Amino acid sequence: MRIERLGETFVARVHDLDLSQPLDNETYAALDKAWFENRVLAFSDQTLTEPQLMAISSHFGPLEKHVLENFHHNAYPEILMISTVVEDDKPIGLADAGSYWHSDVSYKAEPSRASTLYGVEVPEAGGDTLFCDTAAAYDALSDEMKTRLEGLKAAHNYDQRELQASTKGIRGELTTAQKDQTPEVLHPVVRTQPETGRRSIFVNPGFTVRIDGLAEDASTALLGELFAHCLEDRFCYRYQWQKGDLLAWDNAVTMHRATVLDLAPGTRRTMWRTIISGDAPI
Ligand code: OGA
Ligand code: MN
Repeated sequence: MRIERLGETFVARVHDLDLSQPLDNETYAALDKAWFENRVLAFSDQTLTEPQLMAISSHFGPLEKHVLENFHHNAYPEILMISTVVEDDKPIGLADAGSYWHSDVSYKAEPSRASTLYGVEVPEAGGDTLFCDTAAAYDALSDEMKTRLEGLKAAHNYDQRELQASTKGIRGELTTAQKDQTPEVLHPVVRTQPETGRRSIFVNPGFTVRIDGLAEDASTALLGELFAHCLEDRFCYRYQWQKGDLLAWDNAVTMHRATVLDLAPGTRRTMWRTIISGDAPI
């Protein structure tokens, strides 16, 4: 196994590892080290069945089912189908899992620790996934800003439809039961990655609606400033997919977004996605 850093501050490719085979403890230890150092890992040339994807995902923690049960994999509800493919007039998955910057499941009290995304069918070009290193972005804040953010909390909401209007037609309105499962939650604006102790900026344009306790103008201005800072090129990486790639990322210290809206209509892209449960951010 060989680890190749792809981005300036984060994202690495893991070469020469077959995830369909059981891994020994030494390999897991090396993977964990790479995981904490790189925050996003890309495993190339994999040929995985659903149970194999679930097995490697489970290394990072317990799997949880997504709120959108209508897009669960038929046989394996822990896998969310993300797909632009329509069969018999029915989309076989969620066509757009988030063309806005977000950290997965930050709208829950216990956001997802990690996510995996496996490229089952990917376009020749396009459909890239963009990543942002929110730990590097935190480190680069001025001391003044770090002090200002200390103790602040922000509200996150899955039903923040204004920014996500683009995906509305695809995802559909949330049902009352889905809304009940996702009440607005507060999280620290700066969180600490539990294993590494690294701090990161934990607000995202997709789900964060306001900074708690600030007037609306001040809240909007501060969020805008933080988003602009995080999304500077120096903290971002564009991942170009090959079929058989498996990506895993740490949601505590990264944000990401899809670019599927840029694909020509009819372009086929199908991914399997798992969500690994996490703890309440501190
Ligand atoms: C996700 C997601 C992005 C993509 O699966 O959580 O945001 O490029 N996917 O499909
Ligand atoms: Mn996502």
